[in-house]
Amino acid sequence: MADGVLGHLPPSALELAYLVAAIFFIQGLRDMTHPRTATRGNLISSGGMFLAVLATVLYFEILSPVLLAASLLVGGAVGAWLAVSVETTEMPQLVGLFNGFGGGASTLVAGAELVDAVDPATTASLGLELTTTAAIAGIVGTVTFFGSLVAAGKLHGLVGDSPIQGRTNQVMQALFFAAAVLAGLFLIVQSGLLGEAPVAEWLPAYWALVAAAAIFGILLVYPIGGADMPVVIALLNSMSGLAAATTGFVLDNTALIVAGTLVGAAGLILTFIMCDSMNRSLTNVLFGSMAEGGDEDMEDIYEGNITETSPEEVEMMLDAAERVVIVPGYGMAVAQAQHAVAELADLLEETGVDVEFGIHPVAGRMPGHMNALLAEADVDYEQMRELESVNPTFSQTDVVIVTGANDVVNPSAKEDEGSPIAGMPVLEVWDARSVIVNKRSLSPGFSGIPNPLFAKDNTSMLFGDAKQSMQDLVDAYNENH
Ligand code: TAP
Repeated sequence: MADGVLGHLPPSALELAYLVAAIFFIQGLRDMTHPRTATRGNLISSGGMFLAVLATVLYFEILSPVLLAASLLVGGAVGAWLAVSVETTEMPQLVGLFNGFGGGASTLVAGAELVDAVDPATTASLGLELTTTAAIAGIVGTVTFFGSLVAAGKLHGLVGDSPIQGRTNQVMQALFFAAAVLAGLFLIVQSGLLGEAPVAEWLPAYWALVAAAAIFGILLVYPIGGADMPVVIALLNSMSGLAAATTGFVLDNTALIVAGTLVGAAGLILTFIMCDSMNRSLTNVLFGSMAEGGDEDMEDIYEGNITETSPEEVEMMLDAAERVVIVPGYGMAVAQAQHAVAELADLLEETGVDVEFGIHPVAGRMPGHMNALLAEADVDYEQMRELESVNPTFSQTDVVIVTGANDVVNPSAKEDEGSPIAGMPVLEVWDARSVIVNKRSLSPGFSGIPNPLFAKDNTSMLFGDAKQSMQDLVDAYNENH
């Protein structure tokens, strides 16, 4: 097998390349834990993956050099095109698709390895290790592929609500999951243990397993509400890692086992962090349903209780402020207002105002969304305060400027037990002396529910596009200083 370009080297050369790649993966992951080093972490991890792929392809002579160069060129071009053309707000869908492709690849590789292992001349057993790992990779990979397609479709607005909900859906999920497991057991017993049946009798079991897992994957993700989708994407990310690691056992490939395990573990940790941020258990996200919306509708809450303000009025408030906290949300990303926001913060700081940013862990549409945008606008990491540390400071804050955020500052999470977001930790901005909420209208955010913050006595609405409004504030501030 090892007769490729590097084939004359001992197998330890390949293992050495995998070891270096694994060190790169671990260092890369470590760097990704902080926004300041995250870009470097990405580069290091990609370098590790490039090394692992190159070593594998050359060692086993999978492709000719021309085909290898052409594949790298085409793959690199598609990657570069996606990197520049996909908006940051669409990144979760893209990550969802990447997870899906990882899972789909694991299913195909495990299936191909089974087909490859069969010797039509004999009926010898394929062994427990190959058949068990192939069955697991097939189930997890297929669930990841189809679940991710549904999740990406939902986030992109292409897939609507599931017509099958509640108990019916749960029963169907259980049936198809059981069918996938039974097909896997049949495969393992027939070809892994007995090894007496001819190929034709057991190979369809793998495809039956794939079909049942595909339906289970769709049924698992389809009924989950949009507000829970970030958790689902993180979980599917973890599953793609698990599928890859299991495929690593199928192929006996160390690099795949290490990379898959790291992705699996990192994805699972992120899943639990996000569940905590939304105060939901994973079982509740996957198998429960969001509580129905609160009883009050928007008109009851907003009618006669909304105070509108202007950039000039806000500028006067800021003039008298000693401490200001800016809370960004999804709207800041859509409007690309981060540079105007950073400019306003700089101006305030120059005049002696203490300015900090309150960052909710699920503000925006992906983990770290706000941190990444503000870092791009050169905001100091030290100025970005996390939910737990900024919440106690709101009562000593003169002005909070909420720009493009909605769900993450919704008091219903604390005050209304019947609310779909009840219990979700939120930024308690209403404790500040004055709150300015900047958005274009009274439209709801991602969870689709009204926000009583807009109607509070100390809240004023600064209606308008986030970028334009922040620029107007900068202009008003400049005029008077
Ligand atoms: P949202 O609750 O989604 O609210 C965003 C608000 O931005 C909207 O109400 C919208 O109001 C406003 N907006 C949109 N375009 C704007 C523009 N050009 N200028 C000014 N405002 C604009 O955002 P959030 O507070 O950041 O909360 C995030 C939500 O997304 C949570 O429910 C979270 O669970 C969910 N989610 C998060 C993630 C991750 S991982 N972060 C992933 C998926 C979903 P107008 O239309 O009135 O302007």
